Order: sequence, then C-alpha cells, then structure tokens
Amino acid sequence: MGYYGSQALYVAAKLGIADLVAEGPVAVNDLAAAVEADADALHRILRLLVVSGVFEMDSDGRVGLNRAAKSLRIGTRGSMRDLVLVFGEEFYQAFANLLDAVRTGRDAFRITFGRGLFEYLGEHSDRARQFDRAMGAGAVFFNFIPASYDFSDLKTVVDVGGGNGSLLASILGAYPHLQGVLLDVRSVVEAAHSALQSEGLSDRVTLVSGDFFESIVGGGDAYLFSRILHDWTDEQCRTILANCRRVIELTGRILVVERLLPGTYATAADVNMLAVTGGRERSEEEFAKLMSQTGFRLSRVLPVPLEYNVIEGVPV
Ligand SMILES: C[S@@+](CC[C@H](N)C(=O)[O-])C[C@H]1O[C@@H](n2cnc3c(N)ncnc32)[C@H](O)[C@@H]1O
Repeated sequence: MGYYGSQALYVAAKLGIADLVAEGPVAVNDLAAAVEADADALHRILRLLVVSGVFEMDSDGRVGLNRAAKSLRIGTRGSMRDLVLVFGEEFYQAFANLLDAVRTGRDAFRITFGRGLFEYLGEHSDRARQFDRAMGAGAVFFNFIPASYDFSDLKTVVDVGGGNGSLLASILGAYPHLQGVLLDVRSVVEAAHSALQSEGLSDRVTLVSGDFFESIVGGGDAYLFSRILHDWTDEQCRTILANCRRVIELTGRILVVERLLPGTYATAADVNMLAVTGGRERSEEEFAKLMSQTGFRLSRVLPVPLEYNVIEGVPV
C-alpha cells in the first residue's frame, strides 16, 4: 500500500498545494478551483496525507501547512518537492515493470522507456534539470563532508559526475584555498555554470564536459565520485575507475561517496538502482574489490549522515 501514500504526496506536490496554503489555511473547494481539480477527489487525497502526517486540516475542513508539508513548497531552501516529483513520475512508472526487471535482469527504466535513465535525461532537458534539483534536495548530507574529511592538504578536487556542483560548492566554501573541477555531461555542466556563478565560485571551478567512460580529466589530487558508482554495473565501474587511475598521481586519492550495504537505506536504494539505473548499492568489501581490480586500495571509510560514507581509495 506504500504507493497510495507516495502517489498522494506526488499529486499534492505536482499541484503545488503547499504554496497555495503557505499564507494560512484554505478551504479544499478553493484549492480545487485554484488548481482546476475535482474538489471531492482532492479532499480525499489530502485527507490521506493528513492522516499520514503531511498537511493539517482544521474542523472547518481548511487545509494548512505543517512541518512535512512545508518541505513540498516550490524552490524554498530544504524543499523536497523535486525529489517527490522524480520518484512520482518516471521512477514510479519504471517500478510498474519491476517484475520484468527481476525476470530478465534488465533495468525496469529501460524496459519502460526504451533507453537508460541518463540517455533519457539527455533527451529531455526539463526532466534533467528536475533530476539535478532532486539530487540537490537529497543532498543535505553534503554539508557534513567538509567537516568529516580533511581537505586541507589538497589543491584541486575533481568532482566526477558532479551534477549541479553543490557538493563542490560546499567543499570549496569550507576550504578557501581549494580549486575545483566539475566533470559531467554537456547539458548538466551548462546548467551548473549559473549555479556556481551565483555562489561566487565561477573563478575557482573549471567546468569540463565529457564522458567518464571515455576519459577523466587529469590534474586533480582528489577525485570525488558522489553517487556515481551505484548507477552502474561492476564492469562499468571498473571502466570509470580505470580511467581515473590512468590520470591520477600516486599521491592522489579517490573519494567515493555512497551508502554501504547492508544498511537500511542502502537496501532500499539498491532496489531503486535495480529499477531505474541498472546499477547497484554495494558493501565495503565490494567497493574494496572494485578498487583493487582497478589499481586502488580502499584506505578508509568515514561515515556522514543519512547512511552515506566517504570511502577513500589510494592508488597502488
Ligand atoms: C546520480 S547523479 C549524482 C550527481 C552528484 N554527484 C550528486 O551526488 O548529487 C549522476 C551524475 O552522473 C552524470 N553522468 C551520467 N553519465 C555520465 C557520463 N557518461 N559521463 C559524465 N557524467 C555522467 C549525470 O549527468 C549526473 O549528474
């Protein structure tokens, strides 16, 4: 029954209900008129959300914000709305084919949309920007990484598949001497440009568009792989890491940011990877093996919130 709740949440997020009640409680009929929805159906969806702890409803049936509902607002700091939209749209449709994914070993996204997630995002720029914002929304733990890992001795950090640059921004913000390089596909790099500019970091970050399966830019003394390896099969991960090993100095290091199995979130995220990317979550031993197969040694694991870890590897 979990999807009753997740789809109800999606409907409220998509219709922008939280913004409509931001100034104070509003009657469901008025909300329905504002979003051109059926008042009875909207009432029933909101009633489920209220009993699930999202939104409040007063004795006159007017809907108001609570803490959880506030996180559905559009574009506010800490908003989770884009994450709800991503899970509620293509990911949800992909999960409808989970059985076929299990029968065939192919990812459910590919079965549903005829192409892999990142190929699809490359073809749909509005979805790609929404995905980037969703990754940003699910990245509150980024702020803990500069305190958990000491970047003082480093000069240049390359963020491989760095998305909208928010992890790089958080690290460069904490270490003013550092330079950054953001490597991602062209459309993502172009979008990251303005985000980094508004953070005042454009002179400290070099943007590189490229394909990490082809090559990885040299010159970094640390290479970040945040939520990258879990998108790919072991064989694909070996290609990515081997490309890094080709350019990294012996004194360099890789910093893989991932959850580790058998954690609770990691176990759930692993099924998400099965459905939407064809990748997988991994245990510490599995990361150690991938590293040893590509010329690295797993040297340390530093935990950060939300079950994430900075998994350090050094070239051997
Ligand atoms: C799951 S997101 C992670 C983004 C960011 N590192 C984070 O933790 O929020 C994966 C990123 O890999 C990028 N990516 C996918 N395929 C790529 C490729 N072949 N070469 C470079 N980047 C790629 C995507 O555009 C996306 O930004």
